[in-house]
Amino acid sequence: MGMPTKRRKARAKRARIPPENGSHTIILTVNGRTYTRPVEPRVLLVDFIRDDLRLTGTHVGCDTGHCGACTILLDGHAVKSCTVLAVQTDGHQITTIEGIAAHGRMHPIQEAFKEHHGLQCGFCTPGVVLAAMELLQVENAPSEDQIRTAISGNICRCTGYQNIVDAVAAAGERMRPGSG
Ligand code: FES
Ligand code: FES
Repeated sequence: MGMPTKRRKARAKRARIPPENGSHTIILTVNGRTYTRPVEPRVLLVDFIRDDLRLTGTHVGCDTGHCGACTILLDGHAVKSCTVLAVQTDGHQITTIEGIAAHGRMHPIQEAFKEHHGLQCGFCTPGVVLAAMELLQVENAPSEDQIRTAISGNICRCTGYQNIVDAVAAAGERMRPGSG
């Protein structure tokens, strides 16, 4: 799923607008690493993550807060990063999809998505995984309703959602104390 041409042109045009108010220096932690960066007030968090930090696992599907492809964790909460300005994250902690695997091993949610075929093209997957992570951090035995509610802001055009729901449930089992 690519960005529509009209929207791509609008983003390119926005990138050419000269700064009005100068840039602010922000300090934030992304995937455990602290960054100090100048950022213009109009820059969206998703663009900062992708363009400045080069963490391109955070995707842009709509740029309007609808699709969820840009979901990240902001201080542990799933947030659509196209709805937040980068300057608003000064002093905060962000986790992107690049930050959840540890020591070369996939996160249990990623393993469960792989095993339960919770993805096809994969475009929505980083956002869905992070939305699921917020849920599983507080509820590792979620009901199907809880899972569907947690991922309700994330559009998937491929899977029909059932395999995603199965994967999140399986991930919860893996994340329970004493499992594996
Ligand atoms: Fe679609 Fe952010 S890009 S919700
Ligand atoms: Fe293709 Fe979800 S949009 S796997």
